[in-house]
Amino acid sequence: MDIIEAIRSRTSIRGYKPDPVPKEILREILDIAIHAPSAINTQPWEITVVTGEVLDNIRKGNIEMLTFGVPPALSARLRLYVGIYRQRQVDLAINIFRLMGIAREDKEKRAEWMQRGFRLFDAPAAIILSMDKSLDETPFAVLDIGAITQTICLAALNYGLGTCINDQGIIFPEVVRRFTGIPESKQIVICITIGYPDWDFPANKLETAREPVDSIVTWCSDA
Ligand SMILES: Cc1cc2nc3c(=O)[nH]c(=O)nc-3n(C[C@H](O)[C@H](O)[C@H](O)COP(=O)(O)O)c2cc1C
Repeated sequence: MDIIEAIRSRTSIRGYKPDPVPKEILREILDIAIHAPSAINTQPWEITVVTGEVLDNIRKGNIEMLTFGVPPALSARLRLYVGIYRQRQVDLAINIFRLMGIAREDKEKRAEWMQRGFRLFDAPAAIILSMDKSLDETPFAVLDIGAITQTICLAALNYGLGTCINDQGIIFPEVVRRFTGIPESKQIVICITIGYPDWDFPANKLETAREPVDSIVTWCSDA
């Protein structure tokens, strides 16, 4: 796939076909993505691929945590966004709920939508990115993880796969650690769900807005 087409066509996929993703394809995508840049070539990323029973256990574990009323750090994190950032977050939710036919006052359906995220969108596979906690204080390690994250998402398109970068799936790190064995010495940074997109799933039709380039770019030149 052409790189420009890939960048332009990537969207978050929140509904997947149940078909498993062959291990060889996942390995190939990761083998490509490790070409991502990193600060002084430190390559801080550590990658855990979860499928099958392990992934199902994480889904169940997340839902249990939600059910037992453990407040997810997610809502606390979302509250950190104010002004235009908060507005964009609200716009996203409004647009997703509109496509999914979820009314503002329909608490049950909203809760079900939230649970879907905690079930990792019922994807057949997920890629969890973590890094050694010794890198916590370094300024660039998380940025490096961002670079490989996007690279994975773009490479996946070449194989007809869709992805959704998400923190909902890893919001309870203790659940992820229990079923993957990722030790306490590693910081679990982000998750990517991956699978074949179900294009009939309404939320997959979402087209998110972007600020036009002319309103975010400052050209400094002496011309
Ligand atoms: C760091 C990060 C965390 C995200 N976490 C979630 C998440 O927990 N749940 C979700 O549905 N989408 C999540 N997303 C997807 C964003 O909502 C999405 O990228 C954004 O709305 C732009 O839409 P697009 O990816 O379709 O272009 C996350 C994206 C990033 C980069």
